Amino acid sequence: MDNKVTVSRKAHFNAAHRLFKPEWSDEKNLEVFGKCSNPKYHGHNYDLVVSVTGTVDSETGFVLNLKKLKDIIYREIEEAFDHKNLNLETEEFKSLNPTTENIAIVIYNRLRPHIKADQELEIILYETERNFVKYSG
Ligand code: NI
Repeated sequence: MDNKVTVSRKAHFNAAHRLFKPEWSDEKNLEVFGKCSNPKYHGHNYDLVVSVTGTVDSETGFVLNLKKLKDIIYREIEEAFDHKNLNLETEEFKSLNPTTENIAIVIYNRLRPHIKADQELEIILYETERNFVKYSG
């Protein structure tokens, strides 16, 4: 029997953003990105689920220490993004549109170096209760 298990940790952050392409008019941005193109920005309550899949360590019975995962998420994601304007205050989104898709990829890339190479990482990011994306590299 394969003793691979997936462990998950939920986190949350609030952030402001604007979806737009600077070379497009406000009208064109509104047409493509809807309300998320509001030039004055707006916020979302992002819910994040970080999952790590790996072999259960025979000594500890853990895939990984969830307290450690909690601390990594806090340091790499919550401190970086919570109560920030993603477009204006984060390096990653200065020229990258902060769509839920792109935010999930950025979160993955920030966390990946902290997860063991033989473990799988998956990010699920909710922009609203009903809209969410999944990315696993
Ligand atoms: Ni939005």
